[in-house]
Amino acid sequence: MSFRPPVPADAAQISALIADCPPLDTNSVYCNLLQCSDFADTCIVAERDDAIVGWISGYRPPTKQDKFFVWQVAVSDSVRGEGLGGQMLDALLERPALQGVLSLTTTITEDNAASWALFESFAGRHGATLRRTPRFDRERHFGGEHETEWEARIGPLPTAYRKLSKTRELI
Ligand SMILES: CC(C)(COP(=O)(O)OP(=O)(O)OC[C@H]1O[C@@H](n2cnc3c(N)ncnc32)[C@H](O)[C@@H]1OP(=O)(O)O)[C@@H](O)C(=O)NCCC(=O)NCCS
Repeated sequence: MSFRPPVPADAAQISALIADCPPLDTNSVYCNLLQCSDFADTCIVAERDDAIVGWISGYRPPTKQDKFFVWQVAVSDSVRGEGLGGQMLDALLERPALQGVLSLTTTITEDNAASWALFESFAGRHGATLRRTPRFDRERHFGGEHETEWEARIGPLPTAYRKLSKTRELI
């Protein structure tokens, strides 16, 4: 398994991986092209045998530069439960582009046990606390068409561990 920032040529494969990972919203390839170019420094792909089997998109919100927002995490069914999701999160936090980040936020639907477990585990590993609050409401924001997205806020994140851990990423 190797990790690296995405390049635009990855976008179609990433869109296909996301489509294979319900309950994630599917994206246009164009959306992933922008992530793979303008947001490449804060996104990551995991490859095995030249196939993309893992993906995380994220960004630092323009008005909240001390935060890292994780947009989507997708791990191919064939490699789930091997720690890949957690390893990609850790590798991202080690990036120079994420220096100065003090907390991680994401949104998760209530019934997504694997996603809650992934972020609870990340928080525990880094000695941080995970707090939940409703962020995008089923009725008010999704017109009843999508479950409420709960914000998970994890912090404070220590800065020292980034220097200590050994990333396997090829930058
Ligand atoms: C959520 C997802 C990314 C997890 O990826 P993964 O590589 O299998 O996760 P990891 O192996 O790193 O596991 C992280 C933790 O979650 C736990 N976990 C993983 N899958 C789980 C499940 N289905 N139910 C309960 N716990 C689970 C693991 O045991 C581990 O806990 P631990 O560190 O205490 O041992 C993957 O299941 C996936 O792609 N799901 C579909 C898309 C999705 O829901 N994405 C997240 C929304 S943003």
